[in-house]
Amino acid sequence: MNINVLDHPLAAHYLTQLRDKATPPDRFRVLTKRLTTLLVVEATRGLASRALAVETPMETHTGSELAQGLTVVPVLRAGLGMLDPIVELFPDVSVGYIGLERDHATAVASSYYAKLPPNMQGRLTLVLDPMLATGGSASNAIDRVKKAGAGKVVMLCMVAAPEGVAVLNHDHADVPIYTAGLDRRLNDRKYILPGLGDFGDRLYGTE
Ligand code: PRP
Ligand code: URA
Repeated sequence: MNINVLDHPLAAHYLTQLRDKATPPDRFRVLTKRLTTLLVVEATRGLASRALAVETPMETHTGSELAQGLTVVPVLRAGLGMLDPIVELFPDVSVGYIGLERDHATAVASSYYAKLPPNMQGRLTLVLDPMLATGGSASNAIDRVKKAGAGKVVMLCMVAAPEGVAVLNHDHADVPIYTAGLDRRLNDRKYILPGLGDFGDRLYGTE
């Protein structure tokens, strides 16, 4: 299984609070942002940089600056909860949106919206969707960003099920997955166990 799981006590601390059914939406949103910050730092280690000379108050110093732009694509609606920290961290970011919704009976995702930026070639594209359950939504979203010209794509999620990881590894073997937690399995309604329930509902108080 090709997946990168955050291995840090702070990430485990936040993820446990996120799972807790007693965590209210305002705290849930804060925890989502904090975990996303930890995830995106790991997921962008490979970003290209180039040398940059600056004058410190003491002398000339050759440091570096990012040489590669970033595209970020949250999958609506739950992926929106992961967007803000990435936009705040990265100076040259462009944002696209993909709207997908799982059918409650079949768990099959269907598309209701897509708006992707024109300049995706040569940029790293991060696809944001907090729950990788059957993998149908993530695979569909990655199909779309690849068709729109994205080269290197990375998937960021909060929690992944082995079933979804297998689907994504099969459909998009070139796409690394970064997650805060790799869970046990799906239940018969295709929800993740132990999981954290319906992410979008908990994020937006629609339970
Ligand atoms: C949830 C979640 C993912 C999807 C994952 O979205 O945010 O997008 O399910 O499931 P999958 O891996 O089986 O496709 P949902 O359809 O509930 O929509 P929402 O984000 O609008 O709440
Ligand atoms: N979507 C969610 O929000 N939670 C799950 O466990 C599975 C899909």
